[in-house]
Formats: sequence, structure tokens, C-alpha cells
Amino acid sequence: MSHLSFFALLVQTALAQISDPLQYVDQLIGSSNGGNVFPGATLPYGMAKAVADTDSGSNQGGFTTDGSNVTGFSSMHDSGTGGNPSLGDFALFPYSSCINDTVDGCDFPKTSRATPFENSSLVATPGYFSLTLQSGVNAAMTAAQHTSLFRFTFPSTPSEGNSSRSPLILMDLTDLANSRQDNASISVDGTTGRMTGNGRFLPSFGSGTYVAYFCADFSGSTIRDNGIFVNSRASADVKDLMISRGINAGPLPGGAFVRFTNSDPVTVRMGLSFISSDQACSNAEAEIPSFDFNATHSAAVSAWLEKISRISVATAGINSSTLTNFYSGIYRTMVNPQNYTGNVPLASADEMWFDSFYCIWDLFRSQLPFLTILDTYSVVDMIKGLLTIYDYQGWLPDCHMSLCKGYTQGGSNADNVMADAFLKINGTDIDWSKVYEAVVKDAEVEPYDWCCEGRGGLDSWKSLGYVPVQDFDYKGFGTMTRSISRTLEYSYNDFCISQITSGLGNQGDVEKYQQSSENWVNLFDAGQTSYLFNGSNTGFTGFFQPKFLNQTWGYQDPLECSNIDTNPDSICSLQNNAAETFESSIWEYSFFVPHDQAKLISTFGGPKAFVRRLNYLHDQQITYIGNEPAFLTVFQYHYAGRPGLSAYRSHYYIPEYFQPTEPGLPGNDDSGAMGSFVALSMIGLFPNPGQNVYLIIPPYFESVNITSPVTGKTACISNVNFDASYNNIYIQRATLNGQNYTKNWIDHSFFTEGKELVLYLGRNESSWGTHVADLPPSLSAYEGF
Ligand SMILES: *[C@@H]1O[C@H](CO)[C@@H](O)[C@H](O)[C@H]1NC(C)=O
Ligand SMILES: *[C@@H]1O[C@H](CO)[C@@H](O)[C@H](O)[C@H]1NC(C)=O
Ligand SMILES: *[C@@H]1O[C@H](CO)[C@@H](O)[C@H](O)[C@H]1NC(C)=O
Ligand SMILES: *[C@@H]1O[C@H](CO)[C@@H](O)[C@H](O)[C@H]1NC(C)=O
Ligand SMILES: *[C@@H]1O[C@H](CO)[C@@H](O)[C@H](O)[C@H]1NC(C)=O
Ligand SMILES: *[C@@H]1O[C@H](CO)[C@@H](O)[C@H](O)[C@H]1NC(C)=O
Ligand SMILES: *[C@@H]1O[C@H](CO)[C@@H](O)[C@H](O)[C@H]1NC(C)=O
Ligand SMILES: *[C@@H]1O[C@H](CO)[C@@H](O)[C@H](O)[C@H]1NC(C)=O
Ligand SMILES: *[C@@H]1O[C@H](CO)[C@@H](O)[C@H](O)[C@H]1NC(C)=O
Ligand SMILES: *[C@@H]1O[C@H](CO)[C@@H](O)[C@H](O)[C@H]1NC(C)=O
Ligand SMILES: *[C@@H]1O[C@H](CO)[C@@H](O)[C@H](O)[C@H]1NC(C)=O
Ligand SMILES: *[C@@H]1O[C@H](CO)[C@@H](O)[C@H](O)[C@H]1NC(C)=O
Repeated sequence: MSHLSFFALLVQTALAQISDPLQYVDQLIGSSNGGNVFPGATLPYGMAKAVADTDSGSNQGGFTTDGSNVTGFSSMHDSGTGGNPSLGDFALFPYSSCINDTVDGCDFPKTSRATPFENSSLVATPGYFSLTLQSGVNAAMTAAQHTSLFRFTFPSTPSEGNSSRSPLILMDLTDLANSRQDNASISVDGTTGRMTGNGRFLPSFGSGTYVAYFCADFSGSTIRDNGIFVNSRASADVKDLMISRGINAGPLPGGAFVRFTNSDPVTVRMGLSFISSDQACSNAEAEIPSFDFNATHSAAVSAWLEKISRISVATAGINSSTLTNFYSGIYRTMVNPQNYTGNVPLASADEMWFDSFYCIWDLFRSQLPFLTILDTYSVVDMIKGLLTIYDYQGWLPDCHMSLCKGYTQGGSNADNVMADAFLKINGTDIDWSKVYEAVVKDAEVEPYDWCCEGRGGLDSWKSLGYVPVQDFDYKGFGTMTRSISRTLEYSYNDFCISQITSGLGNQGDVEKYQQSSENWVNLFDAGQTSYLFNGSNTGFTGFFQPKFLNQTWGYQDPLECSNIDTNPDSICSLQNNAAETFESSIWEYSFFVPHDQAKLISTFGGPKAFVRRLNYLHDQQITYIGNEPAFLTVFQYHYAGRPGLSAYRSHYYIPEYFQPTEPGLPGNDDSGAMGSFVALSMIGLFPNPGQNVYLIIPPYFESVNITSPVTGKTACISNVNFDASYNNIYIQRATLNGQNYTKNWIDHSFFTEGKELVLYLGRNESSWGTHVADLPPSLSAYEGF
């Protein structure tokens, strides 16, 4: 997708030494095949996200390139999510004229107005999206923080038999999921055409409802008339509508329209708020005062450029497809979460509010750690936002969207986010004592509804040291499944808490939480075998297993819910009858002991056995890189003294499973989780999230520069003997700031202090980074090496 030359020029002057990195952002990656990305116009973390919506069965991100039809142009979206389609509130739809020049001659309901678009007209670049409908109407859009701006251009030749050219633009009180509840309302001003109103909708993966408000203003042409519509009929005589949900499957279509006297282009400015229409109007007036499309677009381009140009790579030998994979991944990490500060009813205007944490179970592993490197102050704001949610809703969330509590997938993984930030971010005004209070509450207090916050089964967890299968829990309520994955995640959560308490000088708590962080061992059944579904023995013995309250073993096939489990009876998500591991197998969760790899390696029979098991996990495709628990397993060879195999595995997955094409993502992007996996892997520093540790592999480029937004210093990683065909991917030796460096990991000061890491590459594994002293930290001591 080529960039407007106007912006290429702007970019080149801002960044003399490298070419425009935004030209390598392809927002359409993941727009089909279930990637569910939001490919439209937005600012980094923007609340206004404008795009065309389609009627695809996989339209979670609004627009798709799977041959579906366009139903409208709405202004609020999430990116990469599973669950139901999120947001998509308040769609606009343009007609160049209505049949017989009567308003009823235009199609109002979403189902009947859905229409194809011209594939060749599609343009999606940072801060911009446009396409031309089959009718010939072009819709271009851009966005400010809480306001989107649409420019509708009508065909210059009237369609046959239409002498009168009277465009109509409607606004539908709908959302992507058709979840509107009772009593949405809309009013249209007879003179100006300004539309204000609100609707109550359901969050896409959570409980409760939310109300969103809008304010739409029209500019550019002369208004002929306006009014409201209900279902397929409209009238200019009525200016206000309140509409119920209706009793049938979907809510009854309803909204407003404006007609124009001629076919001059119309610009629609759409202000948004979760507080009031008045605020939606004032947001719009403040952010886009004069409907200036180019100025709004160019401000968005600048905002993206400012973020993305913090990473610069040497392009020698690298094709544009690789660069597109990389920079598009980076771009997607900053679409969500969304900054709603000042626009939510719960919190006051000066309290940070971020939303669309979708979900922290996905985000803690690499997206938020990536942003801690690249966009540290935004992570500070997100942490403050999480604390605001804690203040007003009582708990840190796992999943949270549209002001509502979302469904927790496993542990209280916001604890991991807090630890990661605590260890890497300082010199900021985060209230760490409140962080401590919040994470300790996760560990100690069971919520009544642990569906959506905190942890369940805490009595058993504390008395038995594991979450039992078929637990007896009368204090709090949630889905009583996932006992193995919850035990593993709670264990790691407690380790993360121990690091925060350690930093805050509370030694008693450090010991307590370090101790409970070893609870994972209680579910390890040393005698458990594993057979493939064809009956052959995997040859590995010793797996986690479910355990009952009476401390006897239950049973789950270690391959159930793995990528190779084709049994239609396996139920692996949040269903009441689902497995004891969430969205993955015991095989994969076997490796989820991020804080004590030394003990896990011993438990598996030493480093060689550990590597054999990890190879088997990948080679047999038991793990699936399209879901986040797979991420760390790509790099865990480091802990067994085989950092070269991590590099090998990284290249096994990229680009094979992450192609810079529309269907190129291996499943939901999950905000920008998949994007961050690509970005961090290609930089060659992958975090063990929640710890001050980055595992080193050679970058995919001859060199990478990363400038810290905190210190302004630039960290540099360069490859000597770089080979763009990736045969030389094994580190032979390394220097850090000119000194020999044999550890196979570095800490965050690499970025803040702008250090220089030089890697000398070869075609075979070497002894670099393989000795016990070179291995990353682990709670227990390494043995048997
Ligand atoms: C437009 O692209 C979609 C997705 O690739 C495809 O299904 C559809 O057939 C294309 N339409 C035309 C007219 O080529
Ligand atoms: C899109 O709309 C066109 C025209 O209304 C219709 O013929 C076609 O079947 C629709 N396509 C899909 C995928 O629904
Ligand atoms: C006029 O324009 C509309 C919309 O563009 C189209 O559907 C209709 O067939 C045209 N012809 C007449 C006679 O209205
Ligand atoms: C348009 O007018 C013609 C002639 O009066 C009529 O037959 C037709 O039903 C009208 N169509 C609509 C959609 O109003
Ligand atoms: C919607 O409005 C009707 C009529 O005013 C009222 O009876 C009803 O309670 C309202 N429903 C909700 C959910 O507010
Ligand atoms: C907006 O930008 C486009 C593309 O660069 C240019 O053609 C157009 O003249 C600009 N319009 C205004 C009003 O500046
Ligand atoms: C990295 O920074 C160094 C020092 O400023 C510079 O010489 C080099 O060209 C930069 N490399 C890239 C890839 O931007
Ligand atoms: C979030 O929004 C607030 C209020 O507009 C602003 O002060 C803050 O800088 C924003 N933070 C980020 C990371 O966008
Ligand atoms: C972080 O903390 C260390 C140790 O207290 C201090 O030396 C350093 O200047 C701090 N860095 C920032 C960016 O605040
Ligand atoms: C332990 O509990 C399980 C599940 O209720 C039961 O099947 C088993 O017989 C019990 N074992 C003993 C020794 O009580
Ligand atoms: C670009 O380079 C990568 C890595 O060498 C390779 O896998 C890919 O096929 C190349 N793509 C194109 C379009 O040449
Ligand atoms: C650094 O490593 C190189 C190559 O292995 C070796 O020749 C050199 O002596 C080492 N330098 C120091 C100070 O250990």
C-alpha cells in the first residue's frame, strides 16, 4: 500500500537517515482468516477508531477482506479480539440519492443496505482508511483522539434515470454485535443536521452493559432536510427518536438521516464520549474545529511516526516484505488498549482510564513488555489506569472492555504486569504502595464473583497448595475448570508479587510468596505417561495432572486441548464443562514455570531431557504459535543452555506462521499480542515477562537501534557476519559495550542506558551462553548441567 507522497515528504525530513518506516505498515495484515485486526484510522491508543464494518462472521475488528459486504462506517472498535464482535457503535451509511427521490427509497436496515466495495479502492495507512462502495460513493476517514472524521464523495455522473442528485447519509443506532439494549435515543437538529444521542450495549467478553454517546456534525454541502428512521421507513417531520430493544432476535433498526441538495462531498465529524453527548460535541469541536481532513490525517501520521521511528533497522539485504512484517507488528501493539481518560463516568477527568485490556492473559506475555521498551510512558499511564479500575471496581482486571469487567482466563495476571513494570520502570509517579495493596488483595481475598476479577479457590489454594479439580468453594463463584492452568498461573502470580514485595522491603512477604510460587510442583505427577492419539507412546513420563480435594489424582490426557487434538468432544475454553487447562494442553502448560526453570529442568530429568521435550512440543505441533502460551516456549531453550535452538525456533515460526498478508496471522492478533511476538523476536530480545530478563537471539536485521523514550539514549544490537538468508543464526561470541559478554540474557538497563550489544554469528551452535553462569536467573539453583 503506497503512501501519499505528501506524507512521504514529511517523513523524510523528520528522519533523514532511514526511509519512512510508516510505508512498511500494512494495516490489512490479519484482516481475514480470523486475525480480527482493526485495519482502520486511529491514533495510538485512540478512542475513535473509524473503519468500514462488514457483515463477515469474523468482523470483530470491524472490517474484513474476506469478500463480505460493507454495512456502514462506525467509529469505535477493538483490535484482534476473540469473543463477540466488539463496539462498532453508531454506523454511518451514505447514498448518492434515494429511489424516486423519496427518503423511503433509500435502504435503512443494516441487512438490506449491505453492499460490496471495489477491492482496488481499498487504502489503509496510519491514520487513514478509505474505500469506494459499489454505488460509486467513496468513504475516506481519519481520526483524532475521541473524534473521527469521514469524507463521503459522491459519483460525478448521476446514475441512469436519476436526474435529481440528493445524497442521504444515515446514522444507525447499532453496534457490530447487534447488542443494543432498551431506550437508545437520537435527536437531529432541523437546521444544522447535528445528531446527538446514545445507546446502551453489551461488552463483547464480559458482564454488565455500557452506554456510549455521540455527536455528529455535517459539513460541505447544503442540507435539504433531515429526520429519523425506524426499520425501513423515514420521515423529515420527526426529529427525535427513543427506541426499545425490540423483542425479536436483533434490535429494531432505528436512527436518523440528513439529505443534501447537491452532490458536493460531505464531511461528517463524529465526536464520542462515555459520559454525555455534550462531551462528545465538545471533544469534536476541540479536536477537529474546522473539519480539516488533511490536518487531522497529518496529525495522526505524525503521532504514529513519533512512536514507530524509535526503532530503526539496517535494511541491507532485507526485502520489503520482511520490513512490512516487522513494522506492521510494531504498529499493531499501539492500537489497543484505548485511552478513555476524562471520558468515563466512573472516574474523574484527571484519573487515568485505559480500557480494552483484551485480555491481560494475552497482553502480559509480550505486548505490554514490548511497550515498556518502546513507549514507556504509555505503559505508566496504563498502569495508572489499571489502578483506577482497582479504585472504582475493587480489583485489578484480567479482561476489561467498554468500561465493563471481562472474563478472567486464568490467574490474576495483572500481577505479572505490575512486576514487569516495577522492575523496569522507575523515576515515575506510579503509586507502588497501591500496586502492592492490589496484588496482595489478588493473592489473599477471594472475590464473590471470580468470573471477572481476582482468583477463585483461595481456601484450597492456601491449605492444599493447589487448585483442586471439583473444588469445594462456597465463598466465591466462577467457572470451576482450569484447575491445572490456574494453579500454574497463580504460582507465577505469587512469584511476581514476591518481587514487588522484595523491592518494597517487605521480607516476610517475599518468603511467603516465593514459597507459594513453588506450588506448581504439587500437581506434577512423575509417573504420568503420554500417548499420541494414534496410540504411540510419546516416550515422555511425568506431567501435570488434576488433583482432587482429597489429594488423589484425577486424569486429563496430556494432549487434550493441544493443537493436535481433533476430538470434537474436547472443550477447551471458559465453558462450564471445559478442561483443566485453558485453551491449551498439559503438554504446553508443562513449560509454564517462568520463574523456576532450573527446578523444572531438574523435574524433567535434566537439560537434555528438557530440550528433547521442548523439541517434541514444537516438532509434533502440539503447541500452536497462534495462542500466547506458545510464545515463551520458543525461547525456553536458553534456560537449558541451548540459546541457538531458540534462534532456530524463532525462524521456524517467522515468517512461516506470520506472513505480511491479509490472511497471514495464525489466529486472533489479541490486541497486538501477535504483533509484539513478531517485533520482539525480530529485534532478538524476548522477555520473560514479569522478570527483568530478555533472552538474546540474533536480530533479523544486520543492526537494530532502539531509542528509550525515558532517557533518550539509543541501544544498539548488531550482527557481525550477518546473513540475510538466515543461515548464520548462531551466536559464537558477543560483546556488551566492548567487553566480552557470555550471558545469554540482558536486563532492561540495556535500553535505558543505551548499551551496545555486538553478536558474532556463525552457522553452528557454539559454547556461547551455554554455561550455568550464562543462564538467566531462576528461583532454584541449576543442577545437572
Ligand atoms: C474482492 O476481494 C475478496 C477477498 O479477496 C474476494 O472474495 C472478492 O471476490 C473480490 N471481489 C472482486 C470483485 O474481485
Ligand atoms: C453482497 O451484496 C451483494 C449485492 O447486494 C449480494 O449479491 C452478495 O451476495 C452479497 N455478498 C455476501 C458475501 O453476502
Ligand atoms: C437512482 O439512484 C439510486 C441510488 O443510487 C438507485 O438505486 C436507483 O436505481 C436510481 N434510479 C432511479 C430511477 O431512481
Ligand atoms: C418509484 O416510483 C415508481 C413509479 O411511481 C413506483 O412504481 C415504484 O414503486 C417507486 N419505488 C419506490 C421504492 O418508491
Ligand atoms: C425505557 O423507556 C420506557 C418508556 O419510558 C420505560 O418504561 C422503561 O423503563 C425504560 N427502560 C429502561 C431499561 O430504562
Ligand atoms: C489534502 O491532501 C491531498 C493529498 O495530499 C491534496 O490533494 C489536497 O489538495 C489537500 N486538500 C487540502 C484542502 O489541503
Ligand atoms: C544506529 O545508531 C548509530 C549511532 O547513531 C548509527 O551510526 C547507525 O546508523 C544506526 N543504525 C540504524 C540501523 O539506524
Ligand atoms: C491519555 O489521555 C490523557 C488525557 O487526555 C493524556 O493526558 C495522556 O497523555 C494519555 N496517555 C496516553 C499514553 O495516550
Ligand atoms: C532508576 O533508578 C536508578 C537507581 O535508583 C537510578 O540510578 C536511575 O537514574 C533511575 N532512572 C530513571 C530513568 O529514573
Ligand atoms: C477422592 O476423591 C475422588 C473424587 O471425588 C474419588 O473418586 C476418590 O474415590 C477419592 N479417593 C479417596 C481415597 O477417598
Ligand atoms: C523476503 O525475505 C524473507 C526472509 O529471507 C523470505 O522468507 C521471503 O520469502 C522474502 N519475501 C519476498 C517477497 O521475497
Ligand atoms: C574476548 O573474547 C575473545 C574471543 O573469544 C578473546 O580473544 C579475548 O581474549 C577476550 N577478551 C577478554 C578480555 O577476555
